Amino acid sequence: MSHQIKFWAVVPAAGVGKRMNAYRPKQYLELAGKTVIEHTLSRLLQANVFSAVAVAISAEDPYWPELEIAEDNLIITAPGGKERADSVLSGLKAIREKANDNDWVLVHDAARPCLTTNDIHLLIDTLVNDDVGGILALSSHDTLKNVQDKSIIDTLDRRTIWRALTPQMFRYGMLKSALEKTEGNHRVTDEASALELMGFTPKIVEGRPDNIKITRPEDLALAQFYLDQQWEQQ
Ligand code: CTP
Ligand code: MG
Repeated sequence: MSHQIKFWAVVPAAGVGKRMNAYRPKQYLELAGKTVIEHTLSRLLQANVFSAVAVAISAEDPYWPELEIAEDNLIITAPGGKERADSVLSGLKAIREKANDNDWVLVHDAARPCLTTNDIHLLIDTLVNDDVGGILALSSHDTLKNVQDKSIIDTLDRRTIWRALTPQMFRYGMLKSALEKTEGNHRVTDEASALELMGFTPKIVEGRPDNIKITRPEDLALAQFYLDQQWEQQ
């Protein structure tokens, strides 16, 4: 019996936001009248493609249960892990009874609230028939330097350098197995790197530059600017 391929979203949201240095984790800071994570999850739900959205939340998180969106029927909560990759694996385990190995999983950072529905569909439409999957990425405008001890060793070839964004889209079975096999490996800073370590070659799909990750304090104002711009363009 052929299985209808499904799409799942996994959202790691168990970080503390050290670089943001705010009074609460950055995913709970206010942006345009709601929290950052509410924007992010709304964007995923609006895409209308996911069978469920698994959100990894820290055990010490008092903010999540207060959000209305936590009660949404499509949202499943999973325990957060020590590193981002552990949180993603936990999200995958939370849907293990429902997901098939061939289903697609889109992993998206809670801290990227400006993701557009267009970019979600672009990623899916481009990769849905791919054997491995891939990620949204951006080319680099700046010249990039390889540096040690504040001295430049050499200059990277910008034409071959891309910045990894999320969502990152992989098959459920392949992604779970790659994350399990690379557990604890510090080179695994996104899903693609886990697949790369297993010998696969994920694709890149050029994404929009406004899909920023809120990382430092100034990024909140930039996200506000991009959201305003997106609303004007609608
Ligand atoms: N994340 C997670 N579990 C962790 C660490 C990070 O779920 N143990 C999530 C964050 O909540 C965020 C995403 O992974 O949505 C991207 O990570 P990052 O931007 O590094 O967030 P933080 O780790 O919270 O920030 P910082 O590194 O500045 O502490
Ligand atoms: Mg981090």
